[in-house]
Amino acid sequence: MANTLHFIHSYWAYLVLLIVVLATINALAGFFSKREYGAKDFRISLFALIVTHIQLLIGIILYVTSPLGLQNITNNGMGVVMKDSTFRLYAVEHPMMMILTVVFITIGYSKHKKNLLSNKKFKTLAIFYTIGLVLMLSRIPWSQWF
Ligand code: HEM
Ligand code: HEM
Repeated sequence: MANTLHFIHSYWAYLVLLIVVLATINALAGFFSKREYGAKDFRISLFALIVTHIQLLIGIILYVTSPLGLQNITNNGMGVVMKDSTFRLYAVEHPMMMILTVVFITIGYSKHKKNLLSNKKFKTLAIFYTIGLVLMLSRIPWSQWF
């Protein structure tokens, strides 16, 4: 179970990274060029929301099944996990930061939908998606992945 999920989570992450980067660049470009917000802009921001939500769901299930997730804390204790940077990354930092990423992207998406003016929509997306992206980049287990 954990192996299959690890495989899916690991490959789905390429899609998440790619789409969130594209949606963030699109929002920044839309904001700075002051162009009209269109169907294509809605689609890319929604797509970024959906792929990150799916990753969140896979991540949460992985967290309770993988030996590097919750089991590491319950078996070895929080003191041991916190002292080991790899353990801490998988059991604490990565999950916490990725949940925050999804929170930022979700708030950005919801708020942008309620804005009526194109430039406001792009501004909301640009701010929240950029913060989400930076948080995500900060705690991806790069050395084990890419
Ligand atoms: C642990 C799993 C998940 C959690 C906690 C979660 C949470 C949320 C929350 C809080 C919103 C509210 C956004 C708003 O205020 O409008 C939302 C929206 C949404 N979620 Fe998720 N989600 C999860 C999984 C998924 C999955 C697996 C999918 C896709 C298959 C998905 C697709 C969507 C879509 C499309 C919307 C936005 C609808 C819209 O307002 O246009 N979510 N989700
Ligand atoms: C939403 C964006 C996320 C991205 C881009 C992402 C990406 C990744 C990547 C690239 C790995 C390393 C895979 C490998 O070593 O091959 C990983 C591992 C892991 N992730 Fe995530 N993740 C996300 C969200 C989450 C969430 C929300 C949780 C839990 C609540 C989570 C839990 C885990 C766990 C426990 C591992 C280690 C699993 C193992 O090696 O057995 N991830 N993630």
